[in-house]
Amino acid sequence: MDAKTSILDIQTVAKTRINEVDFDNLQFGKQYADHMMYCDFIDGEWQQPKIVPYGPMTFQPSAKVFHYGQAVFEGMKAFKDDDDQVWLFRPEENFKRINLSSQRMAIPEFPKDYFFESLNTLLELDKDWVKKGKGNSLYIRPFAIATEAGVSASEANEYRFMIITCPAQAYYNKPVKVVFAQEYSRAADGGVGFAKAAGNYGAQFYPTKLAKEKGLDQIIWTDASSHEYLEEAGTMNIFFRIGNQLLTAPTNDRILDGVTRKSIIQLAKDEGVEVIVDRVSVKQIVEAAKSGELKEIFGAGTAATVVRVEGFEHDGVYHDLPEVEQPYATHFKNKLQDIQYNRADDAHQWRYKV
Ligand code: COI
Repeated sequence: MDAKTSILDIQTVAKTRINEVDFDNLQFGKQYADHMMYCDFIDGEWQQPKIVPYGPMTFQPSAKVFHYGQAVFEGMKAFKDDDDQVWLFRPEENFKRINLSSQRMAIPEFPKDYFFESLNTLLELDKDWVKKGKGNSLYIRPFAIATEAGVSASEANEYRFMIITCPAQAYYNKPVKVVFAQEYSRAADGGVGFAKAAGNYGAQFYPTKLAKEKGLDQIIWTDASSHEYLEEAGTMNIFFRIGNQLLTAPTNDRILDGVTRKSIIQLAKDEGVEVIVDRVSVKQIVEAAKSGELKEIFGAGTAATVVRVEGFEHDGVYHDLPEVEQPYATHFKNKLQDIQYNRADDAHQWRYKV
């Protein structure tokens, strides 16, 4: 290990578990790489970050995270190029966003040098867990939880920041069917929708379960007050293609400022595609589907990358989307992956060499 890792306390595994993993048949988030990082916030300070073998941890049953959901997380990926070099994609964005999420959830911000040194060290120790080839990655899950014991309803004085990593392939291995939300809501003005707060995701499980019972995969959430405008899906931001225009909702209090979302907006603009970042109404999309002008809907997120929506339900009616030639979804997914896997010029300097 070189000098850049010196602020960490490192305990490596006695024996790797890598040979127990079938890398051709991964289930997302089921298997974890050898090492993880944790760092405690005690007495008003982040303590020394520790790298240890991945494994269970012990917390008091009264730890505030269990009672009040004071928790935030991030999703990132590491990619390996054809020369075995490992890369991250726009990690500064994730660093900024976890601290923005933390601020909203009254969690102390995590220091930048701890974040990047931990990532670099974990990826160096576990580089064999990052497999080559498009579609393969090491998914990285930084998160922070309130660990202070005691069920009084106030922000904690003690926290744990952690980073765990898992080898990943496609999050969705086929196009998804969605329903536009008409009853439940994901986020409200002044709320925490823009943050990657754990509860934003947990609160979607029940309505998504109902959607799944009807054969649908995901919900595209609408604005909570009118249910007239399409916002984001459960695990990703969402894009619509009408004719050759690309539409997506602007970020606000309720919508996550997705790294994949903003990268696709940039890549589309670079190619001269007209990108409209404005409210997208349910009415407009239903009418465009009926008239045949709606060419595509696709989701964009770190875990999902880019995933095609094959159809949507609204008002109990299911609308199939056409299979278009040269879909934007495939085109921009390829463009993005070429940058991520160091197979294309990186005009915006999004790649970060580990
Ligand atoms: C990600 O795309 O990394 C996310 O955090 C979404 C997650 C709920 C799978």
